[in-house]
Amino acid sequence: MFDAIMPFLRLLPPETAHTLTLRALARGFAPAAKATDDPALATECLGLHFQNPVGLAAGFDKNAETLGAVFRLGFGFVEAGTVTPRPQAGNPRPRLFRLEEDGAVINRLGFNSEGMDRVAARLRSGQRNGHAPGVLGINLGKNRESEDAAADYAAGARVFAPLADYLVLNVSSPNTPGLRDLQTGAALKAILRQTRAAMAEADSAKTPLLLKVAPDLEETDRQGIADAALEGLVDGLIVGNTTLSRPEGLASRRRDETGGLSGRPLFPLSTQVLADFYRRTRGKIPLIGTGGIASGADAYAKIRAGASLVQLYTVLIYEGPGLVGRIKGDLAVLLRRDGFAKLEEAIGADHRG
Ligand SMILES: Cc1cc2nc3c(=O)[nH]c(=O)nc-3n(C[C@H](O)[C@H](O)[C@H](O)COP(=O)(O)O)c2cc1C
Repeated sequence: MFDAIMPFLRLLPPETAHTLTLRALARGFAPAAKATDDPALATECLGLHFQNPVGLAAGFDKNAETLGAVFRLGFGFVEAGTVTPRPQAGNPRPRLFRLEEDGAVINRLGFNSEGMDRVAARLRSGQRNGHAPGVLGINLGKNRESEDAAADYAAGARVFAPLADYLVLNVSSPNTPGLRDLQTGAALKAILRQTRAAMAEADSAKTPLLLKVAPDLEETDRQGIADAALEGLVDGLIVGNTTLSRPEGLASRRRDETGGLSGRPLFPLSTQVLADFYRRTRGKIPLIGTGGIASGADAYAKIRAGASLVQLYTVLIYEGPGLVGRIKGDLAVLLRRDGFAKLEEAIGADHRG
């Protein structure tokens, strides 16, 4: 059904279209994907089992309202959030812009969130149980006005570590002032330490903890993050968030809107940064490749560049959910074409000559 109504949704302002999509999904208007995935796509990562490596990136279901439905679209994992400790409205509208000609989006939503208590209550009410056949991640943020970032992340971790299969600290949204400064040095270590302590207090020290980074990081900051991962402070990295840069050749008149750019033009930059993190972490740290994936070939390129798993979001705004099945089917064909019996064998293949 969604593939049929996509052209109409695209006539609406983007945030209205998104709200309608969430409502329809929450009411059960979800196309059901094939129940089983090609066995070559199954993988173990972060101590978890994934039926397939294609995930829904954070930001689509910020408040975990439609988990059952989005899993039925065929994703191997879904990341809900970003969730902030207290509810907040985010930036004034309009704050989401389609760059149609570029297959891209610019957003400056600024963490609109119902807050952790409501989202946690929704998860506890069992909405996810029985409806979520895949891996569930929860992506955590800080409130805009909060002066103690580490305390905010720790608060989220305490609540969600027992409810999620993995947690993500989002220190890379460009739309919360100062947030990206938390990716470096002492600030990062303080956050990671406090978050780990909060997870232990919640008897969930074993829940994998990931860090989501920006594709715009300087070299020294990338090395600092890679070192933190190699020291065991984080279990994996998501590479990465939207970019503040504006790659050459953008055709849409909206290209100079303030905010983070996602979608097709983000693919080269985010894949380069992914490959760089794979080298810096010597292939020892699970990486989730995110940014501009629009096909099975794109997903495969991220895996060869070093991703153990991939995520997407923006392409859904243009292509509709039928794409998830096509990406998985094409990925399985590409793995076999190159002689890989299992997904794991292809991870980082580009670095092995
Ligand atoms: C409208 C929109 C909202 C987003 N919100 C979040 C968010 O709340 N937290 C987060 O970590 N990333 C958020 N993202 C970033 C995506 O998770 C993803 O990292 C990025 O869009 C790159 O992937 P894509 O090119 O496939 O969209 C958002 C992206 C978009 C387009």
